[in-house]
Amino acid sequence: MTIPSVTPETPFLASNHQDSKKHLLLATTGSVATIKLPQLLTHLSQKFSPSTLTIHLLISPSSKKFLSPADLDEVSRNPLVSRLWSDADEWAFPSGVYTRECPVLHIELRKWADVLVVAPLSANTLSSIVVGRCDGLLLSVLRAWDWGEKERGGGVVVAPAMNTLMWTHPVTGGQVETLKGWGVEVLTPVSKVLACGDEGVGGMVGVEVVVEAIGRKLGILSVEGEKEKEDEAETVEG
Ligand SMILES: Cc1cc2nc3c(=O)[nH]c(=O)nc-3n(C[C@H](O)[C@H](O)[C@H](O)COP(=O)(O)O)c2cc1C
Repeated sequence: MTIPSVTPETPFLASNHQDSKKHLLLATTGSVATIKLPQLLTHLSQKFSPSTLTIHLLISPSSKKFLSPADLDEVSRNPLVSRLWSDADEWAFPSGVYTRECPVLHIELRKWADVLVVAPLSANTLSSIVVGRCDGLLLSVLRAWDWGEKERGGGVVVAPAMNTLMWTHPVTGGQVETLKGWGVEVLTPVSKVLACGDEGVGGMVGVEVVVEAIGRKLGILSVEGEKEKEDEAETVEG
């Protein structure tokens, strides 16, 4: 399956995509841990059924540099993934220029998403979110997120991944606390030998930890959980 391309002829409207499934907006930013995206999606598709969960991917320009064409092909064929967005899509208006009929993509994605997960979260994007920058599709979605609504404010999960000295930089701790104060779930990085060769805290948590957080946030059962529920129902009825 190829990802439906986001052509100017097919502007995305959240109201045209309402269904009984849970909607996950999964973003990657410019950390080397982006190379784990195919693995993360494989885990997700082993755990959750396409009848339960739909994923839109949002790939920042620098994170795209960590994905080969083969990786992009693999993620686009994942049964849970239905769209792949990049910054350029925000400006893909049918006539080339904005008109009143044009949907605003970052607002539509915020309306569509039940949960937003940023994995990995780069030091750069962490700083940008906290100061409210919105020069890019992901930052605009985050700035337009409904932080006042408990469920929405609590519907953001981030998995920071960066060099140890970036993580222990004096600016990082306060930024992480700010996010937590908004209701964001922060999956604290682990200590390991990092891609750059340094050893210390800064590695992204394992993909299974991200998958577990997604299931919990969305309140959905795994494929095994659904099967157990069906078996229980059959036992009660039988
Ligand atoms: C090879 C390479 C690896 C990088 N790894 C990381 C990383 O693991 N974490 C991080 O925060 N930044 C890392 N950076 C720096 C970011 O890619 C850079 O700050 C970029 O502007 C982030 O953009 P974004 O946050 O908009 O995706 C790396 C850069 C390069 C060239």
